[in-house]
Amino acid sequence: MAARSHDWPGAPIAVLLGDPDLPDRSKPGGRFTADDHDQVERLRAALEKLAGHAFEFRRDHGALLESLRADPPAFALNFCDTGFRNDARQELHVPAYLELLGIPYSGSGPVPLGLCFDKALVRALAQSLGIPVPDERLLGPADDLPEVGFPAFVKPNRGDGSVGITQRSLVHDAAQLAEVVAELRRTPVGAELLVQEFLPGAEYSVGILGNPGLGFDVLPVLEVDYDALDPALPRLLDYDSKTDPESPYWRDVRFRRAQLDAAAVRDLGARCETLFARLGLRDYARFDFRADAGGRPKLMEVNPNPAWCHDGKLAHMAAQRGEDHAALLSHVLEAALRRCRAERG
Ligand SMILES: Nc1ncnc2c1ncn2[C@@H]1O[C@H](COP(=O)(O)OP(=O)(O)O)[C@@H](O)[C@H]1O
Ligand SMILES: [Mg+2]
Repeated sequence: MAARSHDWPGAPIAVLLGDPDLPDRSKPGGRFTADDHDQVERLRAALEKLAGHAFEFRRDHGALLESLRADPPAFALNFCDTGFRNDARQELHVPAYLELLGIPYSGSGPVPLGLCFDKALVRALAQSLGIPVPDERLLGPADDLPEVGFPAFVKPNRGDGSVGITQRSLVHDAAQLAEVVAELRRTPVGAELLVQEFLPGAEYSVGILGNPGLGFDVLPVLEVDYDALDPALPRLLDYDSKTDPESPYWRDVRFRRAQLDAAAVRDLGARCETLFARLGLRDYARFDFRADAGGRPKLMEVNPNPAWCHDGKLAHMAAQRGEDHAALLSHVLEAALRRCRAERG
């Protein structure tokens, strides 16, 4: 039977988030934006609706380690998707530290967070499991440009939130490829690059709640709706689509329920459950796919710590089945508490 929230001791749950006062080089201007602050306020309001739980927020990373050690919460909701000190490379260190302290927490552990930060590694694993993936070359800092077919897509191997992705990521010839590679190599995310087959078809996201052995709940599959976007612009979720309210990508790109038949939805869900288990993910995760020219969805990436925000893809999926932000957050928390109870036996 599913664990119920009121089974958990009544002590406040610590919500771990990025530090709004520290620089964050993944954000425009290198700092938290007005939208980031608004997201946290909306999170606070949604969590207040969850009956039977009290929440306290821990956001000051200068004090975080000492505060967790000296005043360990009974449970932590790990929504720190910026990484420790807002460094994406240290996203995995937050759950690692919680584990060292024996604090139970929501979401995936350090190993899957580390694995999924390397998109080429996830692609290789997915391929070994028979999951369709795009053709791809991995470029190290000193590697020559590969011979690939065009159009192609260039992106950082280790990146998140579309950092390093622009309209120019879609390249049509060797000269454009050379230009974009050179440009990316001058940025902090440019050390390892992927040159991929461009996937021109529909873009899907699959959200999963639950855990192997305890049952999965696959949320309605989402499709990125590019219909309102200026047809002259390439169809992709670039950095501006996630950070710049003035951008046509932010303004005109929407999400809708995927236009897929039931068998295709089942197939996608089954692939994601396989990956979820093999990667050792926990509680919730999001998987991004895009279809090739033949309409076959191929895996772009796995997000083991996906956006929890009110207008993120997971929230849009929940809305497709009539659930609000608070309901989504409650599902995440309940999946984690249920797993923790099962682990305790
Ligand atoms: N091979 C590809 N072909 C077409 N578009 C792609 C490809 N890879 C990525 N994209 C576009 O770039 C966006 C971000 O890529 P993704 O791999 O999901 O990285 P991120 O971690 O930044 O979300 C995708 O949502 C999609 O629009
Ligand atoms: Mg993505």
